[in-house]
Amino acid sequence: MKHYISIQDIDNINTWIQEAKALKRNPLNYKELGKNKTLGLLFFNSSLRTRLSTQKAALNLGMDPIVMNVSGDAWGIEFGDGTIMNGNTAEHIKEAAAVISQYCDIIAVRAFPSLTDKEKDESEQVLKAFVKYASVPIVNMESATGHPLQALTDAITISENTKKERPKVVLSWAPHIKALPHAVANSFVEAMQKMDVEFVITHPEGYDLNPEIIGESTVNYNQNEALKDADFVYVKNWSSYGDYGKVLNTDPNWMITKEKIGNAKFMHCLPVRRNLIVEDAVLDSDSSLVIEQANNRTYAAQLVLKKILEDLK
Ligand code: CP
Repeated sequence: MKHYISIQDIDNINTWIQEAKALKRNPLNYKELGKNKTLGLLFFNSSLRTRLSTQKAALNLGMDPIVMNVSGDAWGIEFGDGTIMNGNTAEHIKEAAAVISQYCDIIAVRAFPSLTDKEKDESEQVLKAFVKYASVPIVNMESATGHPLQALTDAITISENTKKERPKVVLSWAPHIKALPHAVANSFVEAMQKMDVEFVITHPEGYDLNPEIIGESTVNYNQNEALKDADFVYVKNWSSYGDYGKVLNTDPNWMITKEKIGNAKFMHCLPVRRNLIVEDAVLDSDSSLVIEQANNRTYAAQLVLKKILEDLK
């Protein structure tokens, strides 16, 4: 595999899940594969799980990770083509990506959307510029429109915890005070479309995700109806896609409660705001898979890095 940019880079999700589980059983089996190889992790935005689990994955493969908080620590990077650079940006992506490629064998990038300019966000300017101007493979650690390392993690976690051949998985919107990106929800939808699950999305009207991503997936605006007989309830807030980046609804009735999810397992990518997105009684119960999910971030990232390293040879 050359780059890992989206869930669509996964050829067979069931095979990938089995491979990730094998890595989880023996995480140091490929300690020689990444020897003398450097992974550069570039963060334009905050992170706890992605930052640590991707480094851990690299270390398990014998790689040397180096990390930079690009916003704040690096020179301001210009992404525009032909720009007269008389503003705040001091270095063009053409030089920056070429230089970093000399130090790193793989570059992983986190760059969130603005949520103010839909067209620009959907162009994935930052991620695509790294793909274009770097000479090494690129890994998406959450971009404007996708979080494929998280979604692979979630697929692994569902596979590990299901007792059914074809579980019912519900993606539910929940309220939040801030405008949040669509990336986690988008990639989760794409992952579920690749798995053999009964999949339902529920959110208030006005919160429909990109119809090109939703495709034929079922959407039900009635949360209680959608949650009926669910085996897994994946919860995430996102801002409006139609009225781009706006918070249209903060109705606390959409918060996930123990009563609502019944016997289903609760999933969230974290970080999660307690008693706004989900009540304590869910997070503090055996129903919650959030810590397992965070653990699986390491093995999802390790599988992606392993596949790229195998193709570097
Ligand atoms: N889920 C996730 O990506 O967590 P971080 O933002 O902390 O990396």
